[in-house]
Amino acid sequence: MTSSSNSRLVLVMCFMISAFGIAIGAKFDQEFDITWGDGRAKILNNGDLLTLTLDKISGSGFQSKNEYLFGKIDMQLKLVHGNSAGTVTAYYLSSQGATHDEIDFEFLGNLSGDPYTLHTNVFSQGKGNREQQFHLWFDPTADFHTYSITWNPQRIIFYVDGTPIREYKNSESIGVSYPKNQPMRIYSSLWNADDWATRGGLVKTDWSQAPFSASYRNFSANACIPNSSSSCSSNSATLTSNSWLNEELDNTSQERLKWVQKNYMVYDYCTDSKRFPQGFPADCVQNN
Ligand SMILES: *[C@@H]1O[C@H](CO)[C@@H](O)[C@H](O)[C@H]1NC(C)=O
Ligand SMILES: *[C@@H]1O[C@H](CO)[C@@H](O)[C@H](O)[C@H]1NC(C)=O
Ligand SMILES: *[C@@H]1O[C@H](CO)[C@@H](O)[C@H](O)[C@H]1NC(C)=O
Ligand SMILES: *[C@@H]1O[C@H](CO)[C@@H](O)[C@H](O)[C@H]1NC(C)=O
Repeated sequence: MTSSSNSRLVLVMCFMISAFGIAIGAKFDQEFDITWGDGRAKILNNGDLLTLTLDKISGSGFQSKNEYLFGKIDMQLKLVHGNSAGTVTAYYLSSQGATHDEIDFEFLGNLSGDPYTLHTNVFSQGKGNREQQFHLWFDPTADFHTYSITWNPQRIIFYVDGTPIREYKNSESIGVSYPKNQPMRIYSSLWNADDWATRGGLVKTDWSQAPFSASYRNFSANACIPNSSSSCSSNSATLTSNSWLNEELDNTSQERLKWVQKNYMVYDYCTDSKRFPQGFPADCVQNN
């Protein structure tokens, strides 16, 4: 089956089993539940702002009310400023259970003036080990920036401010499982990981700087929500707004992806020959 007939099939299935939820500039209290942190996570400004904090006693976190099966999901984050070494702000999609699927952004803090590391990973059927890490071309603590995931049946694209930083292609044709059957929720948390996060755990969290804080705003999800009761329309506006279902990188975006990978990528599992002395994972073929 060609990928376009494949995605038409998925489109039809989505109409049958679910609704396309479109939430733009959505209110945090309508879309998310605070799940832990005993008051350290707060929804402010009439639902337009969410903040997480971390102190020596606890971090905090939230998760989406909805589950999504494919979508284009955008969030603006402003990360822990100053000396954020040892802290990790995780922002990811995940299903449940031992054979879960997961699409990760994780922001590893650093000493003041040293760069954050943006860690990405893709899990399918409980198996991850597909890390790529980046430094950023701006200070992610000075202002809000948009971090996006496009997840469709052919590919997963990670974007920062609209610039693609990573594309993970469906490699089922060569026997690698791909996340496409398990609905995922959005999760985010701010927590202490000073046993590994910064310079491999050498730099510890400086608790005299606590509480640490990260902020979120302008969430938008253009996504398939399984078993949602709202109706699906098939007018052209809806189809246009679901262009993410067939999204692929055009030439300009390919060039920008190459620019990021050349200048800002600091780790790629597909070039780590020490880790894979027997040969690289099969999905590296499609993704390089
Ligand atoms: C922290 O800064 C150091 C020095 O620039 C860099 O090597 C490292 O990748 C940065 N990030 C983390 C998470 O350690
Ligand atoms: C909020 O996000 C939407 C789309 O996701 C974007 O068009 C808009 O510019 C964003 N607003 C701000 C204030 O950045
Ligand atoms: C959706 O409904 C079907 C049939 O009722 C059920 O098997 C499936 O588990 C449901 N999925 C979710 C995500 O609730
Ligand atoms: C994109 O690149 C391909 C080959 O790399 C070329 O054939 C095609 O014409 C290009 N498309 C545009 C719109 O430039």
